[in-house]
Amino acid sequence: MRLLMITTGLLLLLAVSCDHPETGSAQKEKFIDSLLSEMTLEEKIGQLTLFTSGWDITGPVLNENYRQDILSGRCGNLFNAHTVAYNRELQRMAVEETRLGIPLLFGYDVIHGHRTIFPIPLAEACSWDPGMVKKTAALSAKEAAASGLNWTFNPMVDIARDPRWGRIAEGSGEDPLLGSLYAHARVEGYQGTDLSDVFTLAACVKHFAVYGAPQAGRDYHVVDLSERTIREVYLPPYKAAVDAGVATVMSSFNEINGVPVTASKAYLTDILRDKWGFKGMVVTDYTSINELIPHGVAEDLKHAGELAFRAGVDMDMQGSVFNDYLAELVNEGVFSEEDVNRAVKRVLALKYDLGLFDDPYRYLDEEREKAVLYSDELMEHALVAARKSMVLLKNEPVNGTPLLPVQQSVKKIALIGPLADNRVDVMGTWHASGDAGKVVTVEEGLRKKFPAASIKVLKGCDFTGNDMSGFRAAISLAGQSDLVILAIGENHQQSGEAASRTCLDLPGVQQQLLEKIHETGTPVVAVVFAGRPLTINWMDEHIPAILYAWHPGTRTGDAVADILSGDCNPSAKLAITFPRNVGQIPVFYNTKNTGRPFNAENKYTSKYLDALNEPLYPFGYGLSYSTFEYGTISPDKNSISAGDSLTVSVTVKNTGKCAGEEIVQCYVRDLVGSVTRPLKELKGFSKISLDPGEEKLVQFTITEDDLRFYDINMEYRAEPGEFRIYVGPHSQVDEYVTFTLNR
Ligand code: BGC
Repeated sequence: MRLLMITTGLLLLLAVSCDHPETGSAQKEKFIDSLLSEMTLEEKIGQLTLFTSGWDITGPVLNENYRQDILSGRCGNLFNAHTVAYNRELQRMAVEETRLGIPLLFGYDVIHGHRTIFPIPLAEACSWDPGMVKKTAALSAKEAAASGLNWTFNPMVDIARDPRWGRIAEGSGEDPLLGSLYAHARVEGYQGTDLSDVFTLAACVKHFAVYGAPQAGRDYHVVDLSERTIREVYLPPYKAAVDAGVATVMSSFNEINGVPVTASKAYLTDILRDKWGFKGMVVTDYTSINELIPHGVAEDLKHAGELAFRAGVDMDMQGSVFNDYLAELVNEGVFSEEDVNRAVKRVLALKYDLGLFDDPYRYLDEEREKAVLYSDELMEHALVAARKSMVLLKNEPVNGTPLLPVQQSVKKIALIGPLADNRVDVMGTWHASGDAGKVVTVEEGLRKKFPAASIKVLKGCDFTGNDMSGFRAAISLAGQSDLVILAIGENHQQSGEAASRTCLDLPGVQQQLLEKIHETGTPVVAVVFAGRPLTINWMDEHIPAILYAWHPGTRTGDAVADILSGDCNPSAKLAITFPRNVGQIPVFYNTKNTGRPFNAENKYTSKYLDALNEPLYPFGYGLSYSTFEYGTISPDKNSISAGDSLTVSVTVKNTGKCAGEEIVQCYVRDLVGSVTRPLKELKGFSKISLDPGEEKLVQFTITEDDLRFYDINMEYRAEPGEFRIYVGPHSQVDEYVTFTLNR
């Protein structure tokens, strides 16, 4: 028998709570039940409460009294607190100075790394490499857990089709299949196979649900979408996270079709628990219970608390509503104490699974913290992930040869732009405790890579404002150089939460700078850093080489230098469509045909007077220094019956001069349905490496399951009829074969 922490109140309980965690679920239940039987209603509600510490601020409201609340048992969980030293003291207070000594959960937004920062999630999505993304999550967990954390508010799996929305940076783009694969991979990466492992974190899938579709791309705005689109496009990644065993779910700020999710039983109970079988704990987003009042569904905080608790919320993040009103609601008979127990059990079960009852200090080891932070495996992976995330959008010849890779013989390089010598912005949004001191800048990376070249660096202008006073020197430097590398784009606050934009052009006067530098006639490579697709038509038209680097994190400069020099052949492809202008938004690949599809000859068809329908760069697009040739698509049959499958094969050959990776994509179109179907839907992809001249056979198997959708009666099934299978390098591929699903 092992004793828990030495607090008087626990001694009674300890007599029954022994020998976990090697025991099974029955003993876990017994332990939790006996602990529960010792708790007052107030202490129970304290376990349903999560407050931010003063360490970091991620929302509008701060409760200054969190220490006092821990001591009084009113606060059982904390977020925005980290480092072993800081969290140890708070844990000590909870364990040694409260009546029952129940340990705290420590949550934090470990979104794309903790101290070592990996590329923003949207960038990593462009790797089309769930294995790599899983490793990012696992290493982020390792570093964060070593820093005293045991819970992350990630993965963020909100599908987004609108780049005006700043939080598009945090997700995996527009596609439900790709999004689901990453959701699954990230949960597995964070949680590993055992939550009590000191190198893992409990994950929290967010923001459930459909937070990524606010009207007009404005953060926190209304979501009003058809049930069919919600089910087919937006819900699959959350479901994938639940299937992967995610420990917690965060209810989102937004309303869906009139009901704020934090008050939605339909989402938090009927879908999440009853339909998907989620057994873990539901936490709200930051004060989202309180926000039920401005939403206009709650009269006051007590009413808000009632709605949220009834809907299925277990834990109140930062709002103090459960703390202040749940006991009253129980005393009035609105809820029973058994209702409260159900929620508390989920919280205690999580603490149990994390091993916190076994050793509340298990994540609080200074030696481990020192050994793990910025360790070689983290720094190495930060480089690998950054290299695999940057998308080469354009590489046209200048004087007969493609501008990239940059030759070692180049003598004078001008590196210009606000991101040239920048450590903070390249880490992107939600870099939380990312350590700018460890960041390799673009300048540092290029100097290491091109030691023989003279590299001169100027900022030229800032991210905001109209100051062009730096232009003259930048233009003059460009004019005297053999090559200009322009490091331009968004700063880390121009995407992310509460960072929606209505204009997606380069911010500030960077476009003017770009045009002036171009006028000098010196060849320009644009390296764009951003948290979202920007509207870069002019750049696409005039600049010969464009590398979209996103916000790549700690190893920014090394990764950019590796790609520009050709030491790394770019392989990423867009996980999100790039619009030509804001007016086209939303523009995404899996759209419908309409009754009047585009026809240039016919005015009365679906088009614009002033822009094409097609985006600037389609979903799935990205270049390599190699070129790839696709053979004909051959299916092994022309028809299948229910339960059957069909395989299509295609050979892909590297016709370039260097080894490279190609992401081969397979899309399906259902030609006639009881409801309209998208023009294309991604059903599979394969990332292959090919030496020059090498050829590989790539195969995709399509089953009846892949053809299912919500039919006219909202039944999820495949309908017999004719289908197309497209295989190619991006979503605008034209080559297809047809097959029939038999009756
Ligand atoms: C964000 C969440 C985040 C939470 C805690 C909120 O404002 O929407 O994504 O997890 O703050 O920091």
